[in-house]
Amino acid sequence: MLAALVLVAFGSLGSALTFNARDGASAGVVTKCVKPGQAAITLDDGPYNWHSQIADLLTSYKVKGTFFINGNNWACIYDKDRIANITYSYNLGHQIGLPSRLFLGSVTYPFEAHHTWSHQDLTTVSAERLDSELTLLTTAFERILGVNPAYCRPPYGNYNDTVVNAINAKGMTVMTWNADSMDSDGYTEPQSEAQYKQLLPSSDGSVIALNHETNPTTASTLIEWLIKELLNLGYELVTAAECAGGDAYQSVGQPQTPTAQWYCPSTN
Ligand SMILES: *[C@@H]1O[C@H](CO)[C@@H](O)[C@H](O)[C@H]1NC(C)=O
Ligand SMILES: *[C@@H]1O[C@H](CO)[C@@H](O)[C@H](O)[C@H]1NC(C)=O
Repeated sequence: MLAALVLVAFGSLGSALTFNARDGASAGVVTKCVKPGQAAITLDDGPYNWHSQIADLLTSYKVKGTFFINGNNWACIYDKDRIANITYSYNLGHQIGLPSRLFLGSVTYPFEAHHTWSHQDLTTVSAERLDSELTLLTTAFERILGVNPAYCRPPYGNYNDTVVNAINAKGMTVMTWNADSMDSDGYTEPQSEAQYKQLLPSSDGSVIALNHETNPTTASTLIEWLIKELLNLGYELVTAAECAGGDAYQSVGQPQTPTAQWYCPSTN
């Protein structure tokens, strides 16, 4: 008992001395997978036009991926097509996850994770806006899919202690990436391939690859190239949650029936 108390006291003293605020935040942020040899293909900023197509592509290779979706960025999540798109990929995720669920006894392996309501830089918003950026999308998840997501990626990968604490307070873990295709920074598809060629073999044992489902050439070409490249390099393709060693969702229930409340507020 005494030993434990001493350890706890010593541990917190140690971290107070070792980390500055930014490092302290990073300590709670997932940037690589728990197991070497794993790779998570992540796709941000949807659901958008090619969402279901990308879900089909992953399925055709029998590999998993993760969509870090927004509520109101390129499109409103409550649009009929968008509801159909995430419902579609979510259901595919369950099918892909079935063997793991049966044999490993874990929860679910769906595709969707939290990327905030309207893609603001969370380090620049008010406390109220920070809260609504998280809450509005979690509500949409619960309505449309019946789940409460366990992983959140702050837009632009920008966070500070306030942001990390707010995300943690909603029960979510922060995840960024360690391999960026630069497909949202003007890289052409061949340039993104070249970038990955450099990054993938040297990334520290595992890969969290950042891509954007809103980029036409990412949807049409880059993701398929990336799947093949990762498989060639011997990586096991996993969801963001598996990569981080946790469950994808804090709770899993049933989708709700649409009501007049299912709309994107015009202030966003
Ligand atoms: C997904 O979105 C596209 C257009 O953006 C739409 O044509 C399609 O019907 C949607 N639904 C499904 C299940 O893919
Ligand atoms: C951290 O982010 C919050 C908004 O979420 C902001 O109010 C605060 O000023 C930021 N702190 C620093 C040190 O940038």
